[in-house]
Amino acid sequence: MTITAVRGFNDILPDEAELWRWLEGTAARVFSSYGYSEIRVPVVEKTGLFQRSIGETTDIVEKEMYSFPDRAGDSLTLRPEGTASVARAYIEHKLYQRPVQKLFYMGPMFRYERPQKGRYRQFYQIGAEVLGDLSPLSDAETIEMLMVFFNSVGLKDYGLEINSLGCPECRPGYKKTLLDFLAALKPSLCANCSGRMEKNPLRSLDCKNPGCMEATKDAPLLSGFLCAQCASHFEKVRQRLAALGVEATVNPRIVRGLDYYTKTAFEVVARGLGSQNAVAAGGRYDGLVKDLGGPETPCFGFAIGLERLALCVKDAKFKHAPVIAFIPLGGPATEKGAGLLRELRQRGLKVVEDFSEAGLKGRMKAAHRAGARYALILGDDELRDGVITLKDMASGEQEKTGLADIADKLLLRV
Ligand code: HAM
Repeated sequence: MTITAVRGFNDILPDEAELWRWLEGTAARVFSSYGYSEIRVPVVEKTGLFQRSIGETTDIVEKEMYSFPDRAGDSLTLRPEGTASVARAYIEHKLYQRPVQKLFYMGPMFRYERPQKGRYRQFYQIGAEVLGDLSPLSDAETIEMLMVFFNSVGLKDYGLEINSLGCPECRPGYKKTLLDFLAALKPSLCANCSGRMEKNPLRSLDCKNPGCMEATKDAPLLSGFLCAQCASHFEKVRQRLAALGVEATVNPRIVRGLDYYTKTAFEVVARGLGSQNAVAAGGRYDGLVKDLGGPETPCFGFAIGLERLALCVKDAKFKHAPVIAFIPLGGPATEKGAGLLRELRQRGLKVVEDFSEAGLKGRMKAAHRAGARYALILGDDELRDGVITLKDMASGEQEKTGLADIADKLLLRV
């Protein structure tokens, strides 16, 4: 029997990987322009880190973590997200002694979810975190950066939804009111929502179960319970977003599936993705660093789902670099080609050489199969005249160009 990949774990094949690399490179470029630096954190952490940060009663911690004992018997977990690791590293390396930290990361995350389109057990995130800035302008700038990135990669047809989740001052009062409201409706809630009602009643507000949706349709909303500070923070975020030209819709039902959020929370929803339609999400988490043993540090961040983004921008601005097939006919041409190919490659062109000794016809066929857009043919005649034949594989047109000019000519076309 052949061995296949584990369910929910995907191979990213070369065509797709090239798009991913472009998305990651564009993110790094855009984020750097806002003053972000990259951080690389481990894929495995102590299980307690996620229990304490994401929250004991969240779906992620309750049923989606890949946890296992290591040989010493300590419980370790494949990271289900990146924020907790970044906060841990921030504390561990005393990054709080430095000015505001703006950090980005990319890499695989692991959640034991039911796989479907846009939802996998290993998936990739591109994340960004600002640690040490309490200003609402920081929330708005970070969201704007995400929108600039989305525009740069040609994402279309998406919406930004924001909400405020309050803080330890105002949320408990709301939680109690919501709990009183839900208590009477407990029998109509799904097992998940009624089970975690006492500890995490807010989650029932975004439960997709039809019974829960019906039961909570008139539920009191947090917006009516925000303290003056949270209300003013939210107002300033919205004003600043408007000033930056970023359109945002308030969705009072956004509650997020991780417990560390305070104040601003948001999701970017892409139409066309189906039920797993959040292409990015994030928010403010002012209590997390302190809860993990660090100093009081206001923070804001987000993570983009790379598979979902790739699904949305497949045919957008990304263009595969065209392959140019080099076909030398005979020993002297192969020798001459070595230096020429090095120059073309140094100038960023993607050139492949066919090492077979087949005839021109067979090698042209192979170039077609390799998806080449152009063929460069170097035979004895060309060598004698100091030229090379450039053939457009789609139209069949061909022309001779001086060997010294071929790089410039190709760069104008690709
Ligand atoms: P999250 O909402 O759990 O937030 O995940 C962020 C994004 O990761 C989602 O919007 C989605 O695009 C993608 N994603 C999540 N689960 C899966 C999955 N099973 N398969 C494919 N894609 C998935 C966080 O992870 C927070 N750490 C975001 C954050 C950063 N908040 C503050 N800073």
